[in-house]
Amino acid sequence: MKNICVFASGTGSNFDAIYHSVLNGEINCNISLLVSDRKNSLVVKKAKDYGVDVFAFSAKDYSSKKDFEFEIKRELESRGVELIVLAGYMRLIGDTLLKAYPRKILNIHPSLLPNYKGKDAVGQAMSDNAKITGVTVHYVDEGMDTGEIIMQEELDISNMDSRDEIEFNIHKIEHQLYPKVIKKIVEEL
Ligand code: GRF
Repeated sequence: MKNICVFASGTGSNFDAIYHSVLNGEINCNISLLVSDRKNSLVVKKAKDYGVDVFAFSAKDYSSKKDFEFEIKRELESRGVELIVLAGYMRLIGDTLLKAYPRKILNIHPSLLPNYKGKDAVGQAMSDNAKITGVTVHYVDEGMDTGEIIMQEELDISNMDSRDEIEFNIHKIEHQLYPKVIKKIVEEL
Protein backbone atom coordinates (compact mmCIF):
# COMPACT_ATOMS: atom_id res chain seq x y z
CA MET A 1 0.00 0.00 0.00
CA LYS A 2 1.37 3.42 -1.00
CA ASN A 3 1.83 6.15 1.61
CA ILE A 4 0.72 9.70 0.89
CA CYS A 5 0.89 12.91 2.92
CA VAL A 6 -1.49 15.88 2.86
CA PHE A 7 -0.23 19.44 3.52
CA ALA A 8 -2.88 21.95 4.65
CA SER A 9 -3.16 25.22 6.55
CA GLY A 10 -6.86 25.88 7.03
CA THR A 11 -10.31 24.34 7.19
CA GLY A 12 -9.40 21.06 5.58
CA SER A 13 -12.54 20.34 3.56
CA ASN A 14 -10.32 18.86 0.83
CA PHE A 15 -8.40 16.85 3.43
CA ASP A 16 -11.78 15.56 4.58
CA ALA A 17 -12.80 14.55 1.05
CA ILE A 18 -9.48 12.77 0.47
CA TYR A 19 -9.63 11.06 3.87
CA HIS A 20 -13.13 9.71 3.17
CA SER A 21 -12.17 8.54 -0.32
CA VAL A 22 -9.34 6.56 1.27
CA LEU A 23 -11.63 5.27 4.03
CA ASN A 24 -14.25 3.98 1.58
CA GLY A 25 -11.60 2.27 -0.55
CA GLU A 26 -11.90 4.57 -3.56
CA ILE A 27 -8.21 5.53 -3.25
CA ASN A 28 -5.95 2.63 -2.42
CA CYS A 29 -3.38 4.24 -0.10
CA ASN A 30 -2.61 5.29 3.47
CA ILE A 31 -2.68 8.91 4.55
CA SER A 32 0.44 8.55 6.66
CA LEU A 33 0.78 12.15 7.75
CA LEU A 34 -0.87 15.57 7.78
CA VAL A 35 1.61 18.44 7.66
CA SER A 36 0.42 21.88 8.72
CA ASP A 37 2.07 25.25 9.25
CA ARG A 38 -0.85 26.28 11.51
CA LYS A 39 -0.82 24.41 14.79
CA ASN A 40 -4.34 25.57 15.72
CA SER A 41 -6.02 25.05 12.37
CA LEU A 42 -9.21 23.09 11.95
CA VAL A 43 -7.46 20.64 9.65
CA VAL A 44 -5.04 19.68 12.45
CA LYS A 45 -7.97 19.01 14.77
CA LYS A 46 -9.70 16.93 12.07
CA ALA A 47 -6.59 14.84 11.41
CA LYS A 48 -6.14 14.15 15.13
CA ASP A 49 -9.82 13.18 15.45
CA TYR A 50 -9.38 10.75 12.55
CA GLY A 51 -6.21 9.30 14.08
CA VAL A 52 -3.95 10.55 11.29
CA ASP A 53 -0.38 11.44 12.41
CA VAL A 54 0.21 15.18 12.43
CA PHE A 55 3.37 17.24 12.01
CA ALA A 56 2.36 20.83 12.83
CA PHE A 57 4.96 23.56 12.99
CA SER A 58 5.41 27.33 13.16
CA ALA A 59 7.70 28.74 10.51
CA LYS A 60 8.88 31.37 12.99
CA ASP A 61 10.49 28.65 15.12
CA TYR A 62 12.96 27.97 12.27
CA SER A 63 15.61 30.18 10.80
CA SER A 64 14.72 29.31 7.20
CA LYS A 65 12.36 27.37 4.92
CA LYS A 66 15.22 24.98 4.32
CA ASP A 67 15.28 24.12 8.04
CA PHE A 68 11.59 23.29 8.41
CA GLU A 69 11.43 21.51 5.07
CA PHE A 70 14.39 19.39 6.11
CA GLU A 71 12.45 18.31 9.18
CA ILE A 72 9.30 17.66 7.13
CA LYS A 73 11.40 15.58 4.72
CA ARG A 74 12.62 13.46 7.62
CA GLU A 75 9.03 12.89 8.77
CA LEU A 76 8.01 11.91 5.22
CA GLU A 77 10.94 9.58 4.65
CA SER A 78 10.49 7.79 7.97
CA ARG A 79 6.93 6.92 6.86
CA GLY A 80 7.84 5.96 3.29
CA VAL A 81 5.71 8.74 1.80
CA GLU A 82 5.73 8.66 -2.02
CA LEU A 83 3.26 11.42 -2.87
CA ILE A 84 2.58 14.84 -1.36
CA VAL A 85 -0.85 16.37 -1.81
CA LEU A 86 -1.24 20.09 -1.10
CA ALA A 87 -4.76 20.99 -0.02
CA GLY A 88 -4.86 24.65 0.94
CA TYR A 89 -1.23 24.81 2.11
CA MET A 90 -0.48 28.52 2.13
CA ARG A 91 3.27 28.36 1.44
CA LEU A 92 5.45 27.92 -1.59
CA ILE A 93 7.29 24.60 -1.60
CA GLY A 94 11.07 25.07 -1.52
CA ASP A 95 14.02 23.31 -3.05
CA THR A 96 14.47 20.75 -0.29
CA LEU A 97 11.07 19.12 -0.91
CA LEU A 98 10.98 19.77 -4.67
CA LYS A 99 14.28 17.93 -5.11
CA ALA A 100 13.22 15.05 -2.85
CA TYR A 101 9.81 14.65 -4.56
CA PRO A 102 10.17 15.50 -8.28
CA ARG A 103 6.72 15.34 -10.00
CA LYS A 104 5.40 13.85 -6.80
CA ILE A 105 3.76 16.96 -5.35
CA LEU A 106 0.22 17.92 -6.38
CA ASN A 107 -1.83 21.03 -5.72
CA ILE A 108 -5.44 22.07 -6.19
CA HIS A 109 -6.29 25.65 -7.12
CA PRO A 110 -9.73 27.29 -7.36
CA SER A 111 -9.46 28.68 -10.92
CA LEU A 112 -8.82 27.54 -14.44
CA LEU A 113 -5.05 28.09 -14.45
CA PRO A 114 -3.20 29.98 -15.86
CA ASN A 115 -6.01 32.41 -14.95
CA TYR A 116 -6.12 33.87 -11.44
CA LYS A 117 -2.95 32.48 -9.88
CA GLY A 118 -2.13 33.11 -6.24
CA LYS A 119 -4.34 34.28 -3.41
CA ASP A 120 -8.12 34.72 -3.56
CA ALA A 121 -8.67 33.24 -7.01
CA VAL A 122 -12.44 33.43 -6.52
CA GLY A 123 -12.23 37.15 -5.69
CA GLN A 124 -10.03 37.69 -8.73
CA ALA A 125 -12.59 35.96 -10.99
CA MET A 126 -15.40 38.05 -9.47
CA SER A 127 -13.65 41.38 -9.94
CA ASP A 128 -12.86 40.35 -13.50
CA ASN A 129 -16.59 39.67 -14.13
CA ALA A 130 -15.60 36.21 -15.37
CA LYS A 131 -18.46 34.07 -16.69
CA ILE A 132 -16.50 30.86 -16.33
CA THR A 133 -14.00 29.82 -13.70
CA GLY A 134 -13.25 26.40 -12.24
CA VAL A 135 -10.72 24.17 -10.52
CA THR A 136 -7.26 22.96 -11.54
CA VAL A 137 -5.16 20.10 -10.20
CA HIS A 138 -1.50 20.49 -11.17
CA TYR A 139 2.01 19.35 -10.36
CA VAL A 140 3.95 21.71 -8.12
CA ASP A 141 7.09 23.47 -9.29
CA GLU A 142 9.04 26.38 -7.81
CA GLY A 143 6.49 28.97 -9.00
CA MET A 144 3.13 30.03 -7.60
CA ASP A 145 0.47 27.83 -9.29
CA THR A 146 2.65 27.44 -12.40
CA GLY A 147 3.26 23.67 -12.58
CA GLU A 148 2.04 21.32 -15.30
CA ILE A 149 -1.74 20.98 -15.36
CA ILE A 150 -3.14 17.49 -14.73
CA MET A 151 -6.91 18.04 -14.81
CA GLN A 152 -9.36 20.95 -14.85
CA GLU A 153 -13.08 21.34 -14.45
CA GLU A 154 -15.08 24.39 -15.45
CA LEU A 155 -17.76 26.17 -13.45
CA ASP A 156 -20.23 28.56 -15.05
CA ILE A 157 -20.63 31.44 -12.59
CA SER A 158 -22.55 33.77 -14.88
CA ASN A 159 -25.75 33.27 -12.87
CA MET A 160 -24.15 33.22 -9.42
CA ASP A 161 -24.37 36.44 -7.50
CA SER A 162 -22.57 35.84 -4.22
CA ARG A 163 -19.09 34.76 -3.25
CA ASP A 164 -20.64 32.13 -0.95
CA GLU A 165 -22.49 30.52 -3.84
CA ILE A 166 -19.36 30.45 -6.03
CA GLU A 167 -17.18 29.07 -3.22
CA PHE A 168 -19.77 26.42 -2.37
CA ASN A 169 -19.80 25.22 -5.99
CA ILE A 170 -16.00 25.41 -6.31
CA HIS A 171 -15.64 23.22 -3.23
CA LYS A 172 -18.21 20.75 -4.59
CA ILE A 173 -16.04 20.32 -7.69
CA GLU A 174 -12.81 20.14 -5.67
CA HIS A 175 -14.12 17.38 -3.42
CA GLN A 176 -14.85 15.18 -6.46
CA LEU A 177 -11.95 16.15 -8.69
CA TYR A 178 -9.05 15.88 -6.23
CA PRO A 179 -9.81 12.32 -5.03
CA LYS A 180 -10.28 11.27 -8.68
CA VAL A 181 -6.85 12.62 -9.68
CA ILE A 182 -5.12 11.28 -6.56
CA LYS A 183 -6.58 7.82 -7.22
CA LYS A 184 -5.15 7.85 -10.75
CA ILE A 185 -1.70 9.11 -9.65
CA VAL A 186 -1.49 6.64 -6.76
CA GLU A 187 -2.23 3.78 -9.18
CA GLU A 188 0.72 4.93 -11.32
CA LEU A 189 3.22 5.17 -8.45
C1 GRF B 1 -9.29 25.23 -1.68
O1 GRF B 1 -10.20 26.06 -2.31
C2 GRF B 1 -8.11 24.94 -2.58
O2 GRF B 1 -8.42 25.01 -3.93
C3 GRF B 1 -7.14 26.04 -2.22
O3 GRF B 1 -7.31 26.24 -0.84
C4 GRF B 1 -8.64 25.89 -0.47
C5 GRF B 1 -8.55 24.96 0.71
O4 GRF B 1 -9.80 24.72 1.27
N1 GRF B 1 -5.79 25.67 -2.59
P1 GRF B 1 -9.98 23.61 2.38
O5 GRF B 1 -9.06 23.99 3.56
O6 GRF B 1 -9.62 22.29 1.78
O7 GRF B 1 -11.44 23.69 2.79
